[in-house]
Amino acid sequence: MILIDGKKAAAELREELKKEVIELKAKYNKVPGLTVILIGDMTPSQIYVRNKEKFANEVGLKSEVIKYPDTVEEKTVLEKIEELNKDETVSGILVQLPLPKHIDKQKVIETIIPSKDVDGFHPMNVGNLSSGYESSVPCTPLGCYLLIKKIEPNLNGKKAVIVGRSNLNGKPMMQLLLKENCTVTITHSKTKDLKLECLEADIIVAAVGIPELVKGDWVKKDTIVIDVGINKTDKGIVGDVAFEEVSKNAKALTPVPGGVGPMTIACLLKNTVECFKRSQI
Ligand code: GUN
Repeated sequence: MILIDGKKAAAELREELKKEVIELKAKYNKVPGLTVILIGDMTPSQIYVRNKEKFANEVGLKSEVIKYPDTVEEKTVLEKIEELNKDETVSGILVQLPLPKHIDKQKVIETIIPSKDVDGFHPMNVGNLSSGYESSVPCTPLGCYLLIKKIEPNLNGKKAVIVGRSNLNGKPMMQLLLKENCTVTITHSKTKDLKLECLEADIIVAAVGIPELVKGDWVKKDTIVIDVGINKTDKGIVGDVAFEEVSKNAKALTPVPGGVGPMTIACLLKNTVECFKRSQI
């Protein structure tokens, strides 16, 4: 079984981006900039944002974090986004989710100009991705996609089963795999026989938020299994895949932690560089 090393893949991607940023700086005399807005003091969000900043700096991006207390008015945040939309030194804008209840998430997402939407959450980017046009692609599914391609560069005709239908993961994952000529099945909580669906799969992407849902006997030999889950349990952090059991059958499997997670942040940096490049044309 191949243990897919997301940490190593992310470090390699950051190394490539670092070189690219040096080239871009030489060509345009400026570097891509990423601005993250963090509202409130939710610990996981703070950790994510700290890591984003650390790696953005490592790659040579201009990085800025704007912090607001969780009592901030929606209007203040929307006005700041409008200001960042116009700021030529800012290539990418990310508003860390989740947001306090009094702030309308969709309004925030739609205020970010699509050309700076490094999360790929704006309806314009969602639509462009689904139509197969150039767009920002949400960072987590993009990271999963790059890991799958490392194991299997030719995905033509492969059967992919995605467990979970979220806008953040399942749906964009479907678009990326369709583009690669996979036959894609999206499954969810109402799917009749999830085990049977998974047994058909050459590729399984589990992104459903249920600890160790995908079992060893759900996976046939030669299946690539990508685990997006991060679930807090009595045993500590576990994924959506029963790691020990599945590792006995799968061809390749991502660990949790150290699989998809590191790739997500590296892909955010990649999206920032892509937004910068598109803005220079
Ligand atoms: N919170 C957890 N994951 C994400 C993400 O991918 N983007 C944003 N904006 N917030 C998040």
